[in-house]
Amino acid sequence: MPKLGIIGGSGLYSIPGFVKLKEECVSTPYGDPSGSYLIAGPEDGSGPHVVFLPRHGAAHSIPPHKVNYRANIWGMQSLGVERIIGVTAVGGIDPALSPGSILLPDQVMDFTQGARESTFYEGGDVVHIDFTDPYCPEIRTVLIKAAQIEGLACTPEATYVCTNGPRLESRAEIEFFRRAGGHIVGMTGMPETALARELQVCYAAVSVVTNFAAGVSAAGKLTTTEVVETMAKSTGAVMALLKTSFSLMPQHRGCPCKDALSGTRL
Ligand code: HPA
Repeated sequence: MPKLGIIGGSGLYSIPGFVKLKEECVSTPYGDPSGSYLIAGPEDGSGPHVVFLPRHGAAHSIPPHKVNYRANIWGMQSLGVERIIGVTAVGGIDPALSPGSILLPDQVMDFTQGARESTFYEGGDVVHIDFTDPYCPEIRTVLIKAAQIEGLACTPEATYVCTNGPRLESRAEIEFFRRAGGHIVGMTGMPETALARELQVCYAAVSVVTNFAAGVSAAGKLTTTEVVETMAKSTGAVMALLKTSFSLMPQHRGCPCKDALSGTRL
């Protein structure tokens, strides 16, 4: 079974350059994932097979606050996935980040706490995972190298602010996030990132700026059309980044994520 998973965000409902080999429906103790998992391999036969899941469903019918993040991550692990790369559309809080910019977040601020099912440990076992560095260092290193090989401009560090949505943010909220150190804002990075760690699955994110966040540019009203159109334009670059990173991924994990649960139980 493939050990690499991709979770696609807004505007990424398939994986161009890959052919479908199989489709798997998975049921989990947490309910249904966003859809069936696609097992796919590169068209040209190069590189490993991957498991792909569109986070919002194949027809984008699931809003960010209704995504069953626990089922999605559980399902990935039950298919043998050890490493996940989550692709997310984000608004740029930092005015230097114009639409189309690609970033690899290294930190996260979660403003969805309490509003979403955000843990696999709700009683019985009391577990507090370490989240000092939320993203897998090994996948991040591979992604940075892949971006260099592809000649892709890609910001290797960014603080991702996660809001609950589904509404977009107010001008004042974005200014608050900016002053707090946030660079990009999205609605799906959490709890996805933390849930993977709770299952000792490596996780890293590739974020594509699809719009200036609220109030950052003088342009005014933000639209979902803009988000999906910008994401569509960036898909080629994102897929090139992912494909190259798969071929560079060490076969065995050498990062702390695989032992994330050691020393965490009370
Ligand atoms: N805010 C929150 N989520 C988003 C945005 C945004 O501006 N753009 C894409 N996802």
